[in-house]
Amino acid sequence: MTFSHPPSDSVVKHPLEPLTVAEVQAAVAIVRAERNLDQFRFPCVTLHEPPKSLVLSYQTGDPFEREAFLILLDNATGQTYEAIVSLTQNNVKSWQHIPNVQPNIMADELAECEAVVKAHPEFQAALAKRGISDLDLVVVDPWAIGHFGFADEVGLRLSRCICYLRQQPGGNFYARPIDGLIPVVDLNKMAVVRIEDMGVVPVPPEGSEYATRFTPNLRQDIKPLHITQPEGPSFEVDGHFIRWQKWQFRIGFTPREGLVLYTVGYEDQGQVRSILYRASMAEMVVPYGDPRPQHFRKNAFDLGEHGVGLLANSLKLGCDCLGEIRYFDAVLTNSRGEVSVTENAVCLHEEDYGILWKHTDWRLDEVEVRRSRRLVISFIATVDNYEYGFFWYFYQDGTIQYEVKLTGILLCGALADYPKYGTLVAPQLNALNHQHFFCMRLDFDLDGSENSVYEVNSEAEAIGPENPYGNAFYAKSTLLPTEKAAQRLIDPFTARYWKIVNPNATNRLGQPVGFKLVAGENVLPFAHPDSPILKRARFMTKHLWVTPYQAAERYPAGDYPNQHPGGEGLPKWTEADRSIENTDIVVWYNFGHHHIPRPEDFPVMPTAYIGFMLKPVGFFDASPAMDVPPSAAKQSCH
Ligand code: CO
Repeated sequence: MTFSHPPSDSVVKHPLEPLTVAEVQAAVAIVRAERNLDQFRFPCVTLHEPPKSLVLSYQTGDPFEREAFLILLDNATGQTYEAIVSLTQNNVKSWQHIPNVQPNIMADELAECEAVVKAHPEFQAALAKRGISDLDLVVVDPWAIGHFGFADEVGLRLSRCICYLRQQPGGNFYARPIDGLIPVVDLNKMAVVRIEDMGVVPVPPEGSEYATRFTPNLRQDIKPLHITQPEGPSFEVDGHFIRWQKWQFRIGFTPREGLVLYTVGYEDQGQVRSILYRASMAEMVVPYGDPRPQHFRKNAFDLGEHGVGLLANSLKLGCDCLGEIRYFDAVLTNSRGEVSVTENAVCLHEEDYGILWKHTDWRLDEVEVRRSRRLVISFIATVDNYEYGFFWYFYQDGTIQYEVKLTGILLCGALADYPKYGTLVAPQLNALNHQHFFCMRLDFDLDGSENSVYEVNSEAEAIGPENPYGNAFYAKSTLLPTEKAAQRLIDPFTARYWKIVNPNATNRLGQPVGFKLVAGENVLPFAHPDSPILKRARFMTKHLWVTPYQAAERYPAGDYPNQHPGGEGLPKWTEADRSIENTDIVVWYNFGHHHIPRPEDFPVMPTAYIGFMLKPVGFFDASPAMDVPPSAAKQSCH
């Protein structure tokens, strides 16, 4: 069962509500009325978030301004502009030229680019040289070109395309790369600049199909499994405000980041205590490890170059999501500024999660056990060959978990030689080694805005009079006072974690209230420190960064990483080495998934999971999960 969607013209009840369909239409109309935008594209139309101070002091019923933030690209001149439109005043509040940048690539550009390449005689001649004549089976996948210091690419808006050949209509083209044939397209002129042809490599022979229609022998022994909640879910939704048991938060959705959480709080002893002001994934980079000319440029910035919100899937009940689901639509735009609604982009539901806590007193023959339930809010984006599920989980013990689910199809080349930098996954098909780095921006507000961060390492006590048997160890907390001191790596051998605290608030034991960031799987980049990709995404070289809150500091590789030479974002901001002690801070956590492909990852990769936890540490006086009632047992638990 799904709930009905809120009407798109409903009254906006909170300053952080995402723009409605009518507001997006108004924003585009207002800017079009003031400017001649015939040759313009609209890479971004989204809510211009009100100042944090305004949101925090907002009381229900207070009047508030509504503003839209737009990025505009003039295809005629190649210039980029940012506009802030007041929807309340009906005018363009600011209009700013942003020199020497390229905004994200838009879906319309991808489709137009593919058509232009396929129609180009030189491209068709290169196909003919390979014995390919059926253009309907050819797929041209435009990629960001990156920045490698080539003078003839500066100032142009370029895409570098990877080409594939389906074995049959509707076939799996990612399994059949036309290796070494790379069209390069000027996206402003929408014209082919050059066709790079590195020589003929045979297209891998197998179709490697995955669609149901190509899978004749599906297993027959799976019986139905139903999730039912006869009384409905335990959450309440009002607009984009969500309340579940003691948790409450708001959600937003941006073209670049997709799902955003705001004002995450937990009700404790009758008071809602703040934990996070804003939390989102802020960038994602996928560097590939093959140095050959057709592959070395493969470095996708999936947020800054594309936008995972724009690439969000429309989810399907029973397939993507199981159970009692509440969906939220995403109000987006196409490249011409026309409203494009992705229905069911965000999924909200509850899941049983095994045992929350248990103890048996065998002397009394008494068992106390509680089942764990978690609230799940998620969306899934398709970025060319790959799928990413972005999942937040809220637990009854105060834990917040973030998890990325990676699936989809490996990026492959055809095998021209021994695949040192990849793995053979089908005959003549080489899946390239790569990594996926995810950067989270976590604006903590633990019981107020003034917070600090400690690194906690466990250390063994030296053997001696106080530790005669050598068993002692202890946790050592070290304050990270400034931005440079807070550029840190994981260390599983000291059980390292980072603890965000409010030094001005204590629990009943006199400890500062805190949450710890518990790292999960992680890795460092293998790209050289001087490589173009590490210059552009140097944030990946540290797992932790902490900055003082600045509204404009949103993206760790800068606002416009597409074709940018690098140096922007976290490395630049933190040069100032600002204080991060007892002030409003933002914690940035980077985690990397290292991917040496396996044959079993092909033709579609079974989901891989990676993420981290935020766990209360002294935030509560004791376990906040003791009041969870026992489940009604179908038979005695004894
Ligand atoms: Co991968």
